[in-house]
Amino acid sequence: MRVLVLNGPNLGTLGRREPDVYGTRTLADLVAMVTKHAGELGLEVSCRQSNSEGQLIDWIEKEPSDAIIVNPGALSHYSLALADALRGSGKPVIEVHVSNVFAREPERHRMVTATAAKGVISGLGFEGYLAALDYLRSLPPPPAGEGRGGGG
Ligand code: DQA
Repeated sequence: MRVLVLNGPNLGTLGRREPDVYGTRTLADLVAMVTKHAGELGLEVSCRQSNSEGQLIDWIEKEPSDAIIVNPGALSHYSLALADALRGSGKPVIEVHVSNVFAREPERHRMVTATAAKGVISGLGFEGYLAALDYLRSLPPPPAGEGRGGGG
């Protein structure tokens, strides 16, 4: 199974950005953790980060994968376009948030992209991405030759 791991706006500055909320580990640390854990589980991963909604949608449409782990950052709370792309992919989507958005400001409680996800993990730090990989590993493998396309 090949998993596309997408991080949205402002997640490129993990480690420097609000360390009291997001911790001091960097995006590079996150990618290393995800890559290592995926290898242990026998999953292939591609990790991408962009501050641009359109770029994230292009990856969802074009990058070959069987499943998607996405942290859309603030786009989670308002992007119907990203929700449509995730839903339209037809793939299992797990949405991850480093912080517990439900323990934060009320405007972060509105979850738009999560409506396109199979499940949401919020507040477990970087370990939430690893839990998402564990869940995807538990799914039946995709039939050979199916589900890997980008849909475009
Ligand atoms: C976040 C939570 C969002 O509300 C915020 O806009 C982010 C990060 C998280 O991982 O906790 O950029 O997605």
